[in-house]
Order: sequence, then structure tokens, then C-alpha cells
Amino acid sequence: MLLQTAPLPLASVLQQRRDRLAELHPQPVLLWSGQAVARNFPANVYPFRANSHFLYFAGLPLANAAIHLEGGRLTLFMDDTTPEAALWHGPTPSRDTLAAEMGAAAAYPCADADRYRAEAATLPTQAQSEPDDSQALIEALVTLRLYHDDEALAQIKSAAAVSVAAHQAGMVATPKATAEAAVRAAMEQVIIAAGMTCAYNSIVTVHGEVLHNEQYHHALAAGDLLLADVGAEAPSGWASDITRTWPVSGRFTAPQRDIYNVVLAAHDACIAAARPGVEYRDLHLLACCTLAAGLVDLGLLKGHPDSLVEQDVHALFFPHGVGHLLGLDVHDMEDLGDAAGYAPGRSRSDRFGLKFLRLDRPLSADMVVTIEPGFYQVPGLLGPARLSGQYNDTVNWERLEDFHQVRGIRIEDDVQITQTGCTVLTEALPTQADAIEDLCGPA
Ligand code: GLY
Ligand code: MN
Ligand code: MN
Repeated sequence: MLLQTAPLPLASVLQQRRDRLAELHPQPVLLWSGQAVARNFPANVYPFRANSHFLYFAGLPLANAAIHLEGGRLTLFMDDTTPEAALWHGPTPSRDTLAAEMGAAAAYPCADADRYRAEAATLPTQAQSEPDDSQALIEALVTLRLYHDDEALAQIKSAAAVSVAAHQAGMVATPKATAEAAVRAAMEQVIIAAGMTCAYNSIVTVHGEVLHNEQYHHALAAGDLLLADVGAEAPSGWASDITRTWPVSGRFTAPQRDIYNVVLAAHDACIAAARPGVEYRDLHLLACCTLAAGLVDLGLLKGHPDSLVEQDVHALFFPHGVGHLLGLDVHDMEDLGDAAGYAPGRSRSDRFGLKFLRLDRPLSADMVVTIEPGFYQVPGLLGPARLSGQYNDTVNWERLEDFHQVRGIRIEDDVQITQTGCTVLTEALPTQADAIEDLCGPA
């Protein structure tokens, strides 16, 4: 069943992707689209999202379908809908019509895919169990999907443009909003009206210190900072991911502006340094050192920035990695664990300041990554750290109290690596504190 209309990528683009897969992985491959998940009873389902590997080669967000790929040739497996289904869902294109649209060489009922299960490499979706022999397929998919073709880049840019408009709408809506939910609604309205969906659950909160806060009930008060991490996903499935932090009153207080500018310095330093050949891990460490240096200048940390980072003191305030891959998923290919994020032979550090780094690879042209440094006061981290006495030589706890109005700040942009440097795909949305105030201040 086709649950969502979407412009199909150029058939030639889909064919190029399938031909490249055949070069990298000559053995047959079977990929499943997945199925809608029931919300307590079968007639009420959660919004369906097709598996991203399926989508990459098939181009259409079909549910209950599979594709067999071999030598660049695609065979589609899906059932035609029944007259009963048409009563509830309206007429849907036939299997043969959809097969022709995606450039399939043949099309059969879904059950026929079973005869390929034993001989084809595959990946699990939803309830399926993990196959044993997927390593070569995972490596081929990572090699392909790490570097985006022009069609993918165009789709990411279209999602990014809608996300920019959503953030502008959120800033404009803030003076009249009394609760987080109203700002979230103003932002998601733009995404829905553009025919897109959210690439992940929106974060729109005055408690930005809760990193993936998905509650929207808090009242907005002058003096709060509102952190909004909201990104659109194009109908084709390509994602975007933006965070901005703005003052509810329309004006940053002096301590808020001071910390905001430290986070912005880390953000800007990473973007200035991003280019082919640079290790993403080094961008993360650059963000950490820039942040540490800014916090030393504010009298909040004590010591040399490099040494503070070596001791992971910065991670008390910036506990996550500086970003991740972006593509058909917002954390692209994290369904494959760290196979995409970490170059072969590398694995996660257990160091406090590095263990949440999602990407540890050299950058190359046509990768798209996020850059998203932040500053957070997480009670669960800072409380025990202060009580332990371990950081008394490196953290000025009394000075920190001057910044009690700064619970969470993050500034996140989507960055395409080019042949010579990088392009910020979300640069239409300002990052400078003055420009943010201009957008969100009272009219
Ligand atoms: N939107 C989730 C993240 O930035 O990783
Ligand atoms: Mn992100
Ligand atoms: Mn984000």
C-alpha cells in the first residue's frame, strides 16, 4: 500500500544507486519496507515510515513491500490492495504501476519474496530477527549512503529550507505564547503545511538541559531561554535537523548572552574548520576546547582549556558529541549501530568527554553532518560533581551561580562537506544573538 504521496526521485538516480550497489555488493540483496505499527488495535496505526535502505533504492514509501536487487536489477514484491481496503483508503496504484514508476524489472506478490530469503543478504526491519550474514551488505550500504548524490542533496536542502521557516515561525510566535506547546504548534504548522513531516520528535523546551526533552507543557516566563530542536523531513524521506535557542522575553540577559556567545564560538570554529580530510573527532575536540576557553574567560572554569578538555571537565557542561551524519534518517544509518558513524577499526571511547560522539571518520565531499555544540546545566551531572569535590580546582562553583538562568543552549546547523570546505545548508537562519533578538523580539 502507498501511504504517502511523494515525488519519485529521477528514475535514472535510482538506477545509478542500484548499479553502484551491484559494484559494491554483487551478491543478491533483499530489503523490506516495513509495515505500519498498530496503536493498540489494527485499524489505528502510528504514522508509517518506510525503511531508509528500502527508500534509498526504491524511491517510493511503500508499506508491506520488499525489493530484490541483483546486478542493478530491481524486483518488487508487494500485494495489490483489496476492494475492502479501497473502501477505507481510496484507490491506490496497482503493483504494476508502482513497479513501472520505480523502474522495476519485474513485480510479484509479497509471499513470492520468501523464495529469495535464503540466498539474499538482508537487514532486519521491525519484528524481523537479525540475519547472520549482513556484514558485507552493511559495508556496501555505508559506502554508498555516506556520500550524497545531487538528488539527495537537493532533497535535504528542501527539508532544510522548511526547517528554517519553522524556526522563524517559532521565534515570531514566542511573544504571544504562554506555553512551550504553542511554540511547537507554530513550528510544526509550517512543516505540515509544506507537505512535510517532522524528521524526529520536536524538542521545544525551557528545560534545554534535558537533552531529548519531549514535553511541551511548561509555561514560558520572561527570563527563560527556549531551546527548539525541530527539523523537517521531505516526503522523499530526506531529513534536516536545526536547533536554535532564544530568549522568551526577546532579549538575552547579560549572563545568557555571554554563554550563548561561547557556544556560538564553538559552532563557528567547527564550521570554519570543516573540510575534506579533517577528522570529525577533531572538530568535536575543537568545539570542546573553544567552549572550555570561553568558560575560562567567563571565570567559570579554571585552568588551561586543553588540559580541561583532557580531564573531560568541559563534558560536565557539554556531555554529548558535536553532531552526527544526516541523510534519510536524522541520525543517518544509526540503525546499523556505529558501522556508519565509526570508520573501520574504530570504536567508541569510554571517556566521559568522548563516549557520546556518534561520528568518528575523516570528512569527505558530499557527506552531510550536523554541528551542534551546547552548554547545559544538568542537575544530575553537576550536583554529584560539586558534592564530590573532584572539580574544585577546575570549576568555580560560586561563579556558576551567576548563570543560573542558563539551563540549556544548543546551536545546530546542517553542513555539507564540499570539495574545498563546507556549505551550511541552514545558514538562512541566523545564529548571532542580535539577529536572534531581532527575529523573536516583541513587534
Ligand atoms: N535532533 C536530535 C539531534 O540533534 O541529535
Ligand atoms: Mn542533531
Ligand atoms: Mn537536533
